[in-house]
Amino acid sequence: MSVHLLDAMAREGFEQVLALHDRRSGLRAFLGIHDTTRGPAFGGIRRWRYRDERDALLDCLRLARAMTHKCALVDLPAGGAKLVVLEREGVDWKQAYAHLGRVVESLDGRFYTGPDVGTGPAELALMCEQTRFVTDPGPKGPGELAQATAEGVFRGMEACLEHLDGEADWPRRSVVVQGLGAVGANLAQRLVECGAKVFGAEIDEDLADEVCARLNLERLDPARAVDTPCDVFAPCALGGILHDITLGRLRCRVVAGGANNVLAKPLHGDRLHERGVLVAPDFVLNSGALIRGTIFHLEGRREAVALIGERIKGVVASVLERARAEDAPPTRVAVREAEERIAAWRDS
Ligand code: NAI
Repeated sequence: MSVHLLDAMAREGFEQVLALHDRRSGLRAFLGIHDTTRGPAFGGIRRWRYRDERDALLDCLRLARAMTHKCALVDLPAGGAKLVVLEREGVDWKQAYAHLGRVVESLDGRFYTGPDVGTGPAELALMCEQTRFVTDPGPKGPGELAQATAEGVFRGMEACLEHLDGEADWPRRSVVVQGLGAVGANLAQRLVECGAKVFGAEIDEDLADEVCARLNLERLDPARAVDTPCDVFAPCALGGILHDITLGRLRCRVVAGGANNVLAKPLHGDRLHERGVLVAPDFVLNSGALIRGTIFHLEGRREAVALIGERIKGVVASVLERARAEDAPPTRVAVREAEERIAAWRDS
């Protein structure tokens, strides 16, 4: 099926989509700039082996739009964008990232970029030689981003428990953390420090050994993570993990984690809402890195992780209040509120 790009852009309110090809390196990429009404567009670089370029383009559009939603809900003077790079053989990646750096520089601050799946410190360092508008992974940069993300998830989780029971009461809570990578391990540490009982599920055996021993977590078989009874299930691995098959297996009261797009489809959030499971909007919970990066680039300072967590907790609490008043799933309410805010920017 073909994509009618201009129709899709008009429907979703996109400003600009660039198709990038570099003859020298073999780079192929799409850059989607969704919205710059309130300030520059922010979005990381995802490098992934897509089935074809249509899939890559659709992912680029979806992710860029989601970044604008994030910016709107946490009230940043910024909009959303995404750079999607097609993983394939024969690309000179050193040259490719240098080229991307020059493209980003040519946009002169309309677009800021940083890490995402497939693009880490080594690639960002190559880009830093070409542009000011990228996250510097070194000491001159915004600092530890995953820690800011984990703090936002932790405080968002706290907002969910307070919403349900009036208090977080960590020593009485159990949490399953799925994925013990950068975000999951930081989150698990924060929970353990507060006295919660934490189960850790991680498919990388060495990493599971190391993190579970260091933090004294109860280790779970990753295949059983969804079934384990707990207060909070915290997905910190991949998106799309709650779908027709896994929904019925969940044994928790709250789903709150760092992974993007945890629900395979919005209607899975509706079903969990009907079953009385509170699903926190992931794109709010995991906005800590975006908040830190945006403030660093636009104001030149490193926002304290504690303040970032506080801010996210406040947004989650207000979304939950509205969801209760409307008897609607919080995941739907968060998207609706973001869209209302974006429409208000564009009309003003
Ligand atoms: P990471 O790559 O450091 O950690 C993910 C971990 O999940 C890996 O250790 C991997 O082995 C594990 N994993 C994968 N599938 C699994 C499964 N089925 N069961 C158990 N473990 C599994 O990634 P990071 O940075 O910790 O991010 C985690 C999630 O949060 C990702 O979905 C990412 O997109 C999202 N996120 C991360 C942000 C950040 O600041 N790092 C910001 C916003 C979102």
